[in-house]
Amino acid sequence: MPAAGRGERLGGGTPKALRALGGKPMLVRSIEALRRSESVTQIVVAAPPTLVEVVAQLLGRDVRVIAGGAERVDSVRRALRAIDDDISVVLVHDAARPLTPPSLVDAVAAAVLAGHPAVIPVLGLTDTVKEVGPDGRVIRTPPRDRLRAVQTPQGFRRDVLAAAYALQDIPATDDAGLVEALGVPVTTIPGAQEAFKVTQPPDLVLAEALLARCAP
Ligand code: CTP
Ligand code: MG
Repeated sequence: MPAAGRGERLGGGTPKALRALGGKPMLVRSIEALRRSESVTQIVVAAPPTLVEVVAQLLGRDVRVIAGGAERVDSVRRALRAIDDDISVVLVHDAARPLTPPSLVDAVAAAVLAGHPAVIPVLGLTDTVKEVGPDGRVIRTPPRDRLRAVQTPQGFRRDVLAAAYALQDIPATDDAGLVEALGVPVTTIPGAQEAFKVTQPPDLVLAEALLARCAP
């Protein structure tokens, strides 16, 4: 679980993973979703380097906490090194998706265990997306029905993800993007609306509102 980001777009001064959501740090909620799933056997968290001890105390002894890196890829690469040798399937899950249903975690894991080397949860888009040049002019409009927004957890055969992370300088904004660069097929499964990423201030308001309505 990459959790080492600063949360600059959310603002507020505190690293995003430690921002409170319904009275608990966002990271704690994200970890609870993994604990409630049936398929997760080991959890490794990449924390902000100055907060490794704080995060370890917060999460308890069943979670291994390591120092993250400057970019998300650095954090994931470091976390991968801390996974036990006998683990053969790895899920990479953003700490910033605190309302992810445990059933989505299990669905991703099940698809990898069923033989897909790389699996990502996706949703259709509601907005039309345009490719825009540096001058602000539209270059093209990809057909929306073929576009998908990609969530986490993303699941991989461990050897595939390790090979992808051994690549250097591939400009990918998700883990599957690195796997695509290897030429390995990536399979999509239906994502979940609640697995949205808390990125901008309105996302936190939405998450609080959903928790107030749904949480026991
Ligand atoms: N992440 C990480 N290490 C980094 C950067 C990001 O582990 N160096 C993690 C974040 O903690 C988050 C996930 O990657 O759980 C997705 O990143 P994002 O939503 O971009 O979070 P931040 O990088 O914290 O936010 P921002 O980009 O607004 O600063
Ligand atoms: Mg970021």
